[in-house]
Amino acid sequence: MKIKVFDNPTQMGYMIAKEVAAQLNTKPESVLILPTGSTPIPTYKSIVEMYKNGEVSFKDAVTFNLDEYIGIESDHEERYYNFMQRNLFSHVDIKPENINIPDNQTTDCEKECVDYEAKYRASGCADLALLGIGNNGHIGFNEPGTAFDSVTHVTSIAESTIKANARFFASEDLVPKQAMTMGISTILSAKKIFILITGKGKHDILMKLLDTAVADESIPATALRLHPDVTIYADREAAGLI
Ligand code: GLP
Repeated sequence: MKIKVFDNPTQMGYMIAKEVAAQLNTKPESVLILPTGSTPIPTYKSIVEMYKNGEVSFKDAVTFNLDEYIGIESDHEERYYNFMQRNLFSHVDIKPENINIPDNQTTDCEKECVDYEAKYRASGCADLALLGIGNNGHIGFNEPGTAFDSVTHVTSIAESTIKANARFFASEDLVPKQAMTMGISTILSAKKIFILITGKGKHDILMKLLDTAVADESIPATALRLHPDVTIYADREAAGLI
């Protein structure tokens, strides 16, 4: 794993946006895996600016989001579908039919996961995946203990993740308890992976990720050790003195 450290999240977001633009300019029909959470917001802001300046187009791009809550109203701000519309998709020229996010309005989430994985694999798999990380090392909603050979599945959200995500909801009780998420093997199928880590609060998990030389299912992000092309993008606060 390589690591790149930036002065602040804005600068980091700009550099990642430039990489995304380079990917789409080289291969306009690229398949991207995209994350939600607060960490990718500066990246999405920069991508939207670049789009407005004519530096990038999503005309032929295909995107797959990592995950989605189960049991959240269709118009809820924190539904990841709405998050993605607000922060990226409504501002660029992506075709609606090329946007993929697990559909949480279905009555059969298990089937939705099987179909989602099949559609993703049929796309040829991602050219580039952007990921965030939870304080407990989760990627997507793959919580500690998730098998590294997992594919898209329904999962229970860990207590610590519910607490961490409570800041986005009126109260902790309102945080969904379940989600659909790409599995770890789904994520590892991407040709190139960037993991985005910002803020003091993520320093400990970044250190754990760097110190754990062997992939360990109790820290899901360490699965990235099994992949040949991973870059950690960190800001100075998360990186500390490294
Ligand atoms: C959520 C998402 C993850 C995200 C993580 C970190 O639970 N399911 O995909 O990476 O939390 O979020 P943040 O960037 O807000 O710290």
